[in-house]
Amino acid sequence: MTIKLSEKAQQQIQLYDDHIVGGFTPYPLPLTKALNAKVWDIDGNEYIDFISFFAVANMGHSHPKIVKASVDAIQNGALINTAFLSPSYGQLGATINKVLGYPKTVCMLSGADATDTAAKIARKWGYKKKNIPKDKAFILTTSACYHGITISTHSMASKKDESFGPYLPSVGPVSPSGIEVVFDDLESLEKALEKDHSTIAGFMVETIQGSAGIIDASEGYIKKAYELCQKYNVLFIADEVQTGLGRAGYPLMSVALGAKPDLVCLGKALGGAVAPISAVIGTNEVMSIVDGGDIGSTMAANPPATEAAIAALNVLVDEDICGQSLKKGKLLRELIMKEKILEIDHVSGSGVMAALAFKTDLTDDRFNGRRLAALCAENGLLVIPGGGGKRLRICPPATISEDELEKGVKILADCCRKLRSIEGAILGKY
Ligand SMILES: Cc1ncc(COP(=O)(O)O)c(C=O)c1O
Repeated sequence: MTIKLSEKAQQQIQLYDDHIVGGFTPYPLPLTKALNAKVWDIDGNEYIDFISFFAVANMGHSHPKIVKASVDAIQNGALINTAFLSPSYGQLGATINKVLGYPKTVCMLSGADATDTAAKIARKWGYKKKNIPKDKAFILTTSACYHGITISTHSMASKKDESFGPYLPSVGPVSPSGIEVVFDDLESLEKALEKDHSTIAGFMVETIQGSAGIIDASEGYIKKAYELCQKYNVLFIADEVQTGLGRAGYPLMSVALGAKPDLVCLGKALGGAVAPISAVIGTNEVMSIVDGGDIGSTMAANPPATEAAIAALNVLVDEDICGQSLKKGKLLRELIMKEKILEIDHVSGSGVMAALAFKTDLTDDRFNGRRLAALCAENGLLVIPGGGGKRLRICPPATISEDELEKGVKILADCCRKLRSIEGAILGKY
């Protein structure tokens, strides 16, 4: 199948060109409907979803129980925010405690809100509990991390766009005395903590670097990084916005890898692909320093989102989303390797959080993740590039069927074989 867009679709593309800015450079394909692991465009063409829309739809699109919970809340009078008590928010805190083992929760809207909030909590903890001198509390991150693109969260990254400076001081992968903490490198972390622990309040890390292109850490890295943080009285903050809630095969991957984070950031799948909601969850000891007015947002913890999150967590448990993620992830990897695609070096990630890592000497202007994703879309499969085009991110819903996985991998393999023979742009500018 090669998708040809209708006049109606072209009009939608024109509306974007005329009126919309920003976003993550979307491929020009107007999509209007999604159910479990299938997506349809405005012309009714069907696609298999291998992206879960940036690793959000862990439980599938439009899961009936999650949709019902959220719609019921909307019909009941949607807006009860933190001006008064919302029983649904209290219930969400209790559900998080039951499912994820963290007694305290504060909700926000986006993943970037959650990482920003975790940094705030860690700084306050640094002053109140660790006695860091005024204005010296530092939040350490790692090279190539991604915690969002607001001013504060982008400040945590190693590569910054010069258009938006000056960035927030005292956050990022370079410690106060100038030691760069490289992801998956314990030595650099230990050096930074040894030298600067007295002012470092928290260390924030992804267990698998998602936006960098699904980059794995070596075995033992997360556990040892956690132990180093304990040794130096630095909060260990797991950014599980992407890896958590079944995406990588576990409720919380950091915990599965042997860490006991002081704070965990959640987002994406927390709203069950229905409503925007994120959270920082944490231990009593750390969260006890949060006072009224410290953290909040007008639309945070709104019942349509908190009900969606409660339902999503119940689906996580009742439908064994983690088990499904590990099982489908294994099959996905087997199917891909069976295709013996020349350009693929290895498949990274865990569960249904995966990426094809291409052989760098075989990626070029003709064969790269961006063009491959464009060709796959034209052939009915949604995937996205990563790692500057050297990778292809594959993150289907954990609820995808084995048949859809097989069909998707077939399309992917055919597109890999065809890609080099195609001249010029395929979809949009790629
Ligand atoms: C690990 C991680 N943290 C934070 C974020 C930011 O989330 P959001 O895009 O919802 O702000 C992302 C988004 O991709 C992420 O992968």
